[in-house]
Amino acid sequence: MDRCWILIGMMGAGKSSIGRALAEHTQRTFIDTDLLLQQRLGRPISQIFQIYGEAAFRDHETSVIRSIEPSASVVSTGGGIVLREENWVEFKRLGCTIFLDAEIETLIQRLAVSKKKRPLLQVDDWEERTAAILESRLELYRRADVVVPVDDVDLSCGMTRVLDAIRQYEIDTDQSQIR
Ligand code: S3P
Repeated sequence: MDRCWILIGMMGAGKSSIGRALAEHTQRTFIDTDLLLQQRLGRPISQIFQIYGEAAFRDHETSVIRSIEPSASVVSTGGGIVLREENWVEFKRLGCTIFLDAEIETLIQRLAVSKKKRPLLQVDDWEERTAAILESRLELYRRADVVVPVDDVDLSCGMTRVLDAIRQYEIDTDQSQIR
């Protein structure tokens, strides 16, 4: 059975960009849970937070991950998907989790240009907020099957690193189904 490669990690870690590149490189399907959620509700994430609130967003996020079937795909997720225990049940059902592990400095640098679309960072002290979110989630992210440091790498190098780490994991766990 084909297994999904599920990318988890903080906002700004590169889940979507690395995920897309990885999917293209390995000819896997690319799935983005935030995109599915936006399509389902017909609104951008910022509006979903604004209108329905974070708890409703999280309900939809769980519903979206539940709707995905195991397949030869790369699944990019929203940074907070690790918060709900029931989502980890879905991760196990779907495949292998990969934590894109970025230091706070890297995240701040990347988010400085893209924080506008992140509702949780619409505060003056967004850098402190990012650090607090990272600290509160780090233990959860580290539950991933594979941890890949993504500081100081460009897109292509980050993608290669992730692929190498997954290959190693699949060899280690005897599930080698690289396509
Ligand atoms: C969130 C991360 C976002 C998006 C939402 C909440 C979070 O996705 O799901 O704004 O709680 O970290 P990205 O990680 O793709 O920015």
